[in-house]
Amino acid sequence: MELEILPTKQLEGIVNIPGDKSISHRGIIFGALSKGITRLKNFLMADDCINTIDIFRKLGVPIDILDDSTVLIHGKGLKGLSAPKKPLDAGNSGTTARLLMGLLSGQKFDSILMGDESLQSRPMDRVTIPLRQMGAVFETVNNKDFLPITIKGRDYSLKAIDYTLPVASAQVKSSIILAALYADSNSVIRQPALSRNHTEIMLAAFGGNINVDRDNKITIGPTEELFGRDLIVPGDISSAAYFITAAMLTPKSKIILRNVGINPTRSGILDVYKAMGAEINIEEIGTSKEEPSADILVKTSWLNATVIEGSLIPRLIDELPIIALAATQAQGTTVIRNAEELKVKESNRIDSTVSILKRFGANIEATPDGMIIKGPTPLFGTVIPPTSDHRMIMMATIAALIAKGSTIIQDTQWVNVSYPDFFGEIEKLRC
Ligand code: S3P
Repeated sequence: MELEILPTKQLEGIVNIPGDKSISHRGIIFGALSKGITRLKNFLMADDCINTIDIFRKLGVPIDILDDSTVLIHGKGLKGLSAPKKPLDAGNSGTTARLLMGLLSGQKFDSILMGDESLQSRPMDRVTIPLRQMGAVFETVNNKDFLPITIKGRDYSLKAIDYTLPVASAQVKSSIILAALYADSNSVIRQPALSRNHTEIMLAAFGGNINVDRDNKITIGPTEELFGRDLIVPGDISSAAYFITAAMLTPKSKIILRNVGINPTRSGILDVYKAMGAEINIEEIGTSKEEPSADILVKTSWLNATVIEGSLIPRLIDELPIIALAATQAQGTTVIRNAEELKVKESNRIDSTVSILKRFGANIEATPDGMIIKGPTPLFGTVIPPTSDHRMIMMATIAALIAKGSTIIQDTQWVNVSYPDFFGEIEKLRC
C-alpha cells in the first residue's frame, strides 16, 4: 500500500511499545523445547515471530494464540520435536533461520529450511561453519550456503565445540548454543564483543546448563530437561527507537514510551542519544532483573554530532539507520564505523540508509564500514520506492515527519515484519 506522510508541527502522547522481537522468537523456541506449558505475554504478533510459531507447529508443537499478544506453548521437551511434513519457511526472519539451523542440526530427522527473496540472499555460512565443526550435515543448492538448506538428521550427539566468533553476532552464538544442547560434552563460545544476550538469559531461566564468565566466555553443557514457565516480554527498544527519534527531532514534542526493554546489550541507542545531548529520562519499572524494562520520556532536543564505533556497534546494530537520521539534524560531523555487519541485514543498510536520506536532501556518505553524516541539514519531502526492509520504511516515515512538503512511501506492507501498528501509533501522536 502507498502512503502519503505529511510533516508534523508537534508530537505528544504515550506509546505502549509492542513486545521485543528477539525475545519473542526465543520464548517460542525455549517454550517448545521445555516440558510443560509456557505462557508468553506481550508477545510480538508480527510476521517474523508468526513464522517462528508456524515452524514449531510443523515440528509438532501445539501453540495456542490466546489473543493479540498472548501465546500458550505446549512444550514437547528437548527430544520431543517431530519430523516436519513440509519445508519450514522462515519468511524474512534471519533470527528464525539461523537459530533453527542450530536447533535442527541436533535432531533425529531431516528438515528443509527456506526463506523469502531477501533471506535467501543473506549469508548462512556464519552458522554452517561452526555447526559443521560440531558434525552437522547440510545439503545446499550448488554447494553455496544460502537458503533453501536441508538439515540432515542424526542418531547420535553433535560434537562439543570451542568456538571464537569472528563477528559479534547474537544469531550465530544462539545457533551454536541451541546445537550445544545436543552435544556430547561442554561447548565454549568466545565473543569479540558482547551482542544481545537474550538466549543466554532465557536458557538459564528455563533451567538450562549455561554459564557466562566475566570475559563473556559462554559455556553450555548438554542439558537433560528444560521447564516451561510464564514470561512477560518487554517492549522492543528497536521499535521504540523510531518514536524516541521522532520526539527529539520535532518541535515542542513530548512522548512517553511505556515498557521498553533496556537490557544493556540492547540500549546503546540511549547512551548515544544522551551523549548527543538528547532530553531523555528513563524510569525503571520492570520486575525482571534479567530483562529490565523502563518507561522512557523524550522531549524535543538539540543534538551534537558523535562518533559511534567498536563495542557499541552490536549494542545498537538495528538502530543505526534511525540514528543516522538523527545525525542529519545534529550540529557537526557524525561518524559511524566498524559497522560492516549492516551490509548483511534485511537490505544492505549502509547503502539503503544513505540512498534514502540523500533523497530527503541529507549530507551523508557511505564508507566501507559505516557512514559519515554532516548536520544539521533541512530535509525535503520525497518519494521512497518499494523496499522490503521494514526498518528502512520506518526510518523514512520519521524523516517525512520533519521534512518540508509531503513524502510518498510507495509500499508500506513490510512494516508487518516487526511493527504492524506502526503507522497507527504515529498518527495518534500528531497534534
Ligand atoms: C538478532 C540479532 C541481530 C539483529 C537481528 C536480531 C537476534 O543480528 O540484527 O535483527 O534476535 O538474535 P546479528 O546477531 O546477526 O547481528
